[in-house]
Amino acid sequence: MKVLVIGGGAREHALCRSLSLDPDVTALHCAPGNAGIAEVAELHGVNALDGRAVAELAAGLAADLVVVGPEAPLVAGVADAVRARGIPVFGPSAQAAQLEGSKAFAKDVMAAAAVPTARSYVCTTPEEIDTALDAFGAPYVVKDDGLAAGKGVVVTDDATQARAHALACVAQRRDAADGGRAVIEEFLDGPEVSLFAVTDGETVVPLRPAQDFKRAYDGDAGPNTGGMGAYSPLPWADPKLVDEVMDTVLQPTVDELRRRGTPFSGLLYAGLAITSRGVRVIEFNARFGDPETQVVLARLKTPLAGLLHAAATGTLAALPPLRWSDDAAVTVVIASHNYPDTPRTGDPITGLADVAAQDAPEAYVLHAGTRQDASGAVLSAGGRVLSVTATGADLGIARERAYRAVGRIALDGSQHRTDIAAKAAADAAADGGAVRA
Ligand code: AMP
Ligand code: GLY
Repeated sequence: MKVLVIGGGAREHALCRSLSLDPDVTALHCAPGNAGIAEVAELHGVNALDGRAVAELAAGLAADLVVVGPEAPLVAGVADAVRARGIPVFGPSAQAAQLEGSKAFAKDVMAAAAVPTARSYVCTTPEEIDTALDAFGAPYVVKDDGLAAGKGVVVTDDATQARAHALACVAQRRDAADGGRAVIEEFLDGPEVSLFAVTDGETVVPLRPAQDFKRAYDGDAGPNTGGMGAYSPLPWADPKLVDEVMDTVLQPTVDELRRRGTPFSGLLYAGLAITSRGVRVIEFNARFGDPETQVVLARLKTPLAGLLHAAATGTLAALPPLRWSDDAAVTVVIASHNYPDTPRTGDPITGLADVAAQDAPEAYVLHAGTRQDASGAVLSAGGRVLSVTATGADLGIARERAYRAVGRIALDGSQHRTDIAAKAAADAAADGGAVRA
């Protein structure tokens, strides 16, 4: 199978790594990729947002499968353009990707499918904003309706800040066809879980749950980011969680989108809050999560290309059950100076070869924002730069290995959280490491 992956972050590096280990994959290509992906795939300098160019590339490579990583190309219709050329593609249509592209659309689908989520108002005027903020009270949750790379959400006790963010969301897209919108919703307490499901629009295959660390600094302080680390499994989670989310969230959502004539095929990502009143959907994404993919794929034993191809060709029902490693996995994101505000780029990264020599195969580095200069040096080229990933018999071991590898890497001014999976590992150790979701 010849596979083309679209994107260039650590999620795409994780996808490419797993695809490169699949014996059925005979050729692996990526556009645009990054310095790490270049080690396992042939890179192509094609704009990931240009559907025609991506379809052209896929046809030229005689690709049997195109895997679209990030949300922006999906929302821009890149999967539609590839599908129109008759090439199987893993990733939803632009219409189905509105599940991520518009929080208002997602709320509408959830209401129709009776999927449990936070109560919410979609606001377009200052009056509506004030009414919604008053209705829910503090802590306030205000979201930009459109795509915002994980940075469009403000959760605050400060009514002035909440109102200012809502007004900015409304003002921001005034020129767009449907104008700017802020979604204001009820605060959900409780831990968060990311659960991914592979679907062909009908059959839904859940993967293993993971937890993401969204805040920039230790102790969940600082601004929201794209994600600073992740781990899987979740020893603290109810073993019945996946079945419950399948029945109450994933299958009803897939069924509702099919009923609307816009079937969702690809990766359905449910961002969940385990609240005192039960499981609630915080958000849907229309693609693999970053950095959760790094830990989920580290545990998946079923070859990845066959799974994604089955979703792309509507044959998931015939696929044997997925096989999983008993190992735990932890990933720690190394981000550049000043991420998420104004990340500095162009700094040299050292120590990568040391990790490869001393920590592999249990620990390895997945590249996000990196590029190679003419001399072959690897430089930072984005906000999140590396995802250092490790596996082990339990979370404590995986965590230790991940941080040992992080310690070998030098990137001037970089930042990383030191508490990824710390609490889960400690609690599991205290519990004798029993339950695994
Ligand atoms: P989202 O982009 O919708 O996933 O939101 C980003 C992050 O903001 C989530 O991962 C949560 O940590 C937080 N968040 C979003 N919605 C809520 C909510 N209703 N209650 C509490 N926290 C939320
Ligand atoms: N880790 C959060 C996301 O991928 O949106």
